[in-house]
Amino acid sequence: MNIFDVFPKRLAEDRIRNTRDMEYIESQLKIYPNDRILHAGCGPGVHAIYIAKKHPICSVYGYDTSNRMLEIARSRADDEGLANIYFENKDVTNLSPSEKFDAIIADRLFMWFRNPEVRRDLRQSLYRTLDRRGTLIVSEPIPRNSWDDVMTYLRGYTFGSKDAMVFFFNSETPWTYLNAVEKPEYSRRYFIGRK
Ligand SMILES: C[S@@+](CC[C@H](N)C(=O)[O-])C[C@H]1O[C@@H](n2cnc3c(N)ncnc32)[C@H](O)[C@@H]1O
Repeated sequence: MNIFDVFPKRLAEDRIRNTRDMEYIESQLKIYPNDRILHAGCGPGVHAIYIAKKHPICSVYGYDTSNRMLEIARSRADDEGLANIYFENKDVTNLSPSEKFDAIIADRLFMWFRNPEVRRDLRQSLYRTLDRRGTLIVSEPIPRNSWDDVMTYLRGYTFGSKDAMVFFFNSETPWTYLNAVEKPEYSRRYFIGRK
């Protein structure tokens, strides 16, 4: 049982209310016509829907292992009349190497996995499926006094020519992401592999 099967509506409502982080993430992605974009661990699909609306000739995929979350995401996409978005029950720690995406968003996903080996699997899985010219955005809350812990997230990243931006925001303040986007002292950004 995934906790998000039990509290999906609450998370969906919170995420829908707090939209500024989506604008920020979208502004950091380089999206071109016909790109394939993955929202890994999409939950209620808030980012995926935002991007699918903004880029109608791209295909947007939302993968999650909570069927309740996927139901909410699909129903919201239907309400918006979107035909370029696909929500599927897939484990993002073990994606097929044959799938390729031009952009991947992993928002509040690494926090879900406490086990360093599973985090490693997740990093490798996302890395494998990111196109050679693609961009990955990882965004995570972290307590303010733990900025040094970011290395536990970054360890093992070797992106070569692929771009990645890892964005951490202070998890101690309410509506942290909103604060973090607007107040740099609440956030840390790392660019990996960016030329
Ligand atoms: C904290 S929520 C974040 C949801 C969404 N990214 C957001 O910010 O609104 C983490 C999500 O990851 C999903 N998840 C957990 N393990 C997963 C896995 N192995 N594969 C895909 N999704 C997973 C959960 O079901 C949950 O919806």
